Formats: sequence, C-alpha cells, structure tokens
Amino acid sequence: MDIGKRFDQVASRYDTPDKLERSRIIVEKILSEIPVKKSFKVLDVGAGTGTVDILLSPYVREIYAYDLSEGMLSVFSEKIKKKGIKNIKIFKEDILNKNKNHGDFDLVITSMTLHHIDDTYNAVKKLSDFLNIGGYLVIVDLEKEDGSFHSDNTDVKHFGFDRKEIESMFRSADLQNINVQTIFTIDKEREGKLRKYPVFMAYGRKAT
Ligand SMILES: C[S@@+](CC[C@H](N)C(=O)[O-])C[C@H]1O[C@@H](n2cnc3c(N)ncnc32)[C@H](O)[C@@H]1O
Repeated sequence: MDIGKRFDQVASRYDTPDKLERSRIIVEKILSEIPVKKSFKVLDVGAGTGTVDILLSPYVREIYAYDLSEGMLSVFSEKIKKKGIKNIKIFKEDILNKNKNHGDFDLVITSMTLHHIDDTYNAVKKLSDFLNIGGYLVIVDLEKEDGSFHSDNTDVKHFGFDRKEIESMFRSADLQNINVQTIFTIDKEREGKLRKYPVFMAYGRKAT
C-alpha cells in the first residue's frame, strides 16, 4: 500500500485538538519569524487536512496545497468549502517528482512530512527550486528520535533529524540566513510512560 492510501485510512480522525494546536503554533511562528506579506504565493507540500494552510490563508494571497492522499485532501476540501475560503487550491499530485522549475512561490512550507521522504537532500533542493529569489522555505518536523514516535514505522523513512543535518540540507539547496529552533513538544504515552518528542521549525531564504 502506498503512503497516500495509508493516510486515507486515518484522514477522518486526523484532526485532533493537539494537531490543531500544533498548527496554530506553526502559523504563529511563521508570522513572527518571516516577513509574510498579503501578496505572497505559498506552496505547501504534504498539506494533509490543511490545518496549517487554513490558519495561514488570511495572511497571504494564495496557497497551492499538494498531498498524495485523496482522503486527507477530501477532509481539507470540505473544511474550506464550509469556511468559504477562496484562496487555497488543492492538488493530489507528487510535485516532488516533477522536474519543472516553477520558481514563483514566495513561501514554501512542509510540515511533518519530510520524515516520510527517502531522499531528503533532493526533496529540499526541489522545494527550494520552487521559490522566487528572496523567498523562504519553512520545514517543520521531528527532532531526532529513537523510532518510538510512530506506532507503525512502515512509511517512516527517518526517525527525525538533527540540526546539523537540516542546516546542511538547507545550505546545499542554496538557502541562506538559516534558522533552526524547537517550537513545541509532542507528548505521547509509550509503554506506560510519558515521552516527549521535540519538533523543530527550520527556515532559510533563497539566495540565488
Ligand atoms: C503527518 S501528515 C502532515 C500533514 C500536515 N502537513 C500537518 O502538519 O499536520 C504527512 C502528509 O504528507 C503527505 N505526503 C507524504 N509524502 C508526500 C509527498 N511526496 N508529496 C506530497 N504529500 C506527501 C501524506 O499523504 C500526509 O498527508
């Protein structure tokens, strides 16, 4: 089963209070760290049920949201219909497998998705290629963990990332002014104990 189909199975129960709170913190951090303008055209890869994009949408011109899961995108699309949001376009497509260089986004984001992607250097380079010069790439994901975060690691290609790794991916994708910071912690119970999984936000600016 491919990753899209696997996320189809959890789509209807994906939006939990902790994920909504996580998205609220991500958007708050993006808005406080990056000079987001109302003219911005945004790309989100691995948009899921759109919890981040829906909160970001009032602050930007338009958002192009990509995901591989029909189920996740159908939850997303129901929500934007209900809320009357007009500036989000949704695509079920693997944009990372495309070789064309769009280069016209002011902000590219990917949240909790990079750990599902095998060749992260290649993915970060492609995400950077979608940016205008001066545009920003934002990646939110797990910090290095011991493999216990997911109860099933079938589609998990990386047990989080360490800061040096992230910085190196950003540098090799022509990004500058790189900043990596822990923005919150996910609590999960594992074998009767409370475990804490820190999540980072990394951003950088396209230089050339
Ligand atoms: C853990 S969810 C994160 C959803 C959302 N961004 C969030 O922060 O809650 C990961 C999502 O990435 C999608 N995904 C995984 N690999 C992808 C790829 N190559 N292109 C687009 N979406 C992908 C999955 O279908 C899933 O919806």
